[in-house]
Amino acid sequence: MLIVGNCSIEAQAVDITRLKVDAIVNAANSSLLGGGGVDGAIHRAAGPDLLRECETLDGCATGDARITGGYRLPAKHVIHTVGPVWHGGGHGEAHLLASCYRRSLDCAHEAGVTSIAFPAISCGVYRFPADDAVKIALAAVIGALPECPALERVIFACFDEAMLARYERELASRSTP
Ligand code: AR6
Repeated sequence: MLIVGNCSIEAQAVDITRLKVDAIVNAANSSLLGGGGVDGAIHRAAGPDLLRECETLDGCATGDARITGGYRLPAKHVIHTVGPVWHGGGHGEAHLLASCYRRSLDCAHEAGVTSIAFPAISCGVYRFPADDAVKIALAAVIGALPECPALERVIFACFDEAMLARYERELASRSTP
């Protein structure tokens, strides 16, 4: 765990749909109308009212984010963000991925969220190299914390042990001894 100001940052091997936090982040696509991976799991767990609210949003650009209710999830809100598809790294992928984290935290701040969980955005179907994605995620979150004074807890929800190990390594490398 890393403490930055008032906020703890940690990684957990967990299904993000089970977390009782103010907001979980969804790695969505630009339609916001559902899909596979963590997006499918969140929509299944939240129930059909989530899709109904998403249908009113008119989609979301890559690198941007939108907030909805959490419906049947333990989380109060879902923040839907659209990660970049990996096309080799020369198409602004790193910038867009960082923007996903920043824009998600903007939404969290506006909604008064004090605890938030992120999945490894773009690291599944969208094929972003995970080692780089983890560094970008942590740097973007730490960089945005001064703009989110109410935030007390950030969880990186990892679906497998390999992803957990990446986050643990990156968190440890930033901890002061
Ligand atoms: N909890 C936490 N992490 C999860 C869960 C879960 N329940 N399920 C999967 N992951 P992906 P992307 C991890 O493919 O790469 C969808 O179809 C997974 O192991 O869900 O951003 C959307 O609609 C991986 O590490 O998202 C888009 O079309 C990470 O979440 C597209 O996939 C992200 O994998 C988005 O692709």
